[in-house]
Amino acid sequence: MGFPETFMWGASTAAYQIEGAAYDDGKAASTWDVYSHQPGIIYEGNTADVGCDHYYRYREDVDLMKQIGLKAYRFSFSWARVMPSATGAPNEKGLEFYDRLIDALLENGIEPCPTLFHGDPPYCLHLQGGWLNRSISDHFAEYASVVARRFSDRVKYWFTFNEPQYLIHFGYHVGGGAPSLQHHFSEVLAMSHTVLLAHGKSVQALRASTKQPARIGLVLVGNIFVPATETPADISATSTAMFATTAKTVDTTSWWSEPIYNGRYPDDGVALFGNDMIEYDPADMKTICQPLDFCALNVYSIKNIIRAGENGEPEMVARPLGHPVNASGWDICPEVLYWGTRFFYERYRLPIFITENGMTNVDFIHDDGKVHDPQRIQFTTWYLQNLKRAIEKDSIPVIGYLHWSLLDNFEWTSGFRPRFGLVYVDYPTQRRIPKDSALWYRSVIELNGENL
Ligand code: BGC
Repeated sequence: MGFPETFMWGASTAAYQIEGAAYDDGKAASTWDVYSHQPGIIYEGNTADVGCDHYYRYREDVDLMKQIGLKAYRFSFSWARVMPSATGAPNEKGLEFYDRLIDALLENGIEPCPTLFHGDPPYCLHLQGGWLNRSISDHFAEYASVVARRFSDRVKYWFTFNEPQYLIHFGYHVGGGAPSLQHHFSEVLAMSHTVLLAHGKSVQALRASTKQPARIGLVLVGNIFVPATETPADISATSTAMFATTAKTVDTTSWWSEPIYNGRYPDDGVALFGNDMIEYDPADMKTICQPLDFCALNVYSIKNIIRAGENGEPEMVARPLGHPVNASGWDICPEVLYWGTRFFYERYRLPIFITENGMTNVDFIHDDGKVHDPQRIQFTTWYLQNLKRAIEKDSIPVIGYLHWSLLDNFEWTSGFRPRFGLVYVDYPTQRRIPKDSALWYRSVIELNGENL
């Protein structure tokens, strides 16, 4: 037994990171459009006004996906392109772009898997209080209905939010991502509640409006912990630590996963947050906790190594000296894909969908005109071997694996410096060059992972 026959091998991108056409065909500004133009914030003053010019080059990009043999492609709708005023009539030209993209994918046998929200709310909603204004959750549900009605004849897989942890933590608590604010923690908790509510309402809207049964999930960032050894005591301590709240932050797993999958905020978080904890209508939890079809996870690096200390209490263990890191300095730890998959499945008993995984590498065009990236091939081999272990040894249902990213793209505040793509983008000319890893990934897909 290896990867299931139906396994969805694919790649992911996000609207603001690749589309460009920032103000074309009726699109309004998102928070990122505004924030990226503030001086001194993004690496070398980069903005994604043009990005990878995917809005105009999507056909070429779908051809590349076909060449790589992708079976699935996860992209995000730009909320500000679809609903420039956030309410009222949607932007027909924006919808037509996604019509063309989805049709091109289907013509090439690639499953379209849209995310409704990947970091870029319409700026007009930010000016109305953003996530502090509960009405944004209704606007989000309205937007979900619009895209469901328009695309659900062709779309079966839907993701509501991408990484709500990072959205709120970096955007509104510590500063870092748009709009880079530093709110009081009680306001941060209020915003997290609104995001959860928007998720729940959008699931209801999708279920009410899709023309065929929808498979829906929310993408969490995998803050993954790994056991120091594979003894039952270390494994159990690690799972406990991974879902615990130990600091005043929403950059945790359980602050989001417990309401979404179990309909309650985690007790340890509520206790630790004390007076900062918000009051909310208990009916909200029913809205938030909608039945979902899978747990979607973005898995890159490791958060902590854990062993069982006295009485089985989790204890942190130092990382081995000289452990490998990617070109951005992130720890490379392939076991996270096994343990992340296993711990989430054991806790929530839903199929797992790996919606992002990949690495930044020192990629450039060599004298032979190619981009050789053996590190990325080795990295992905190791990570996929760990995913295979979860499928083979633990019989965990895994729906698919989507590599981040299809293309090199705009890596938020780091601009175009880090390169995550299977395909190299020469930004001044917008020329695309499939890297060695793209050709290798093709063979993995062809053999359904038998060569791993
Ligand atoms: C995000 C992507 C980002 C990637 C690499 C994920 O956290 O969803 O937008 O580019 O990680 O940093």
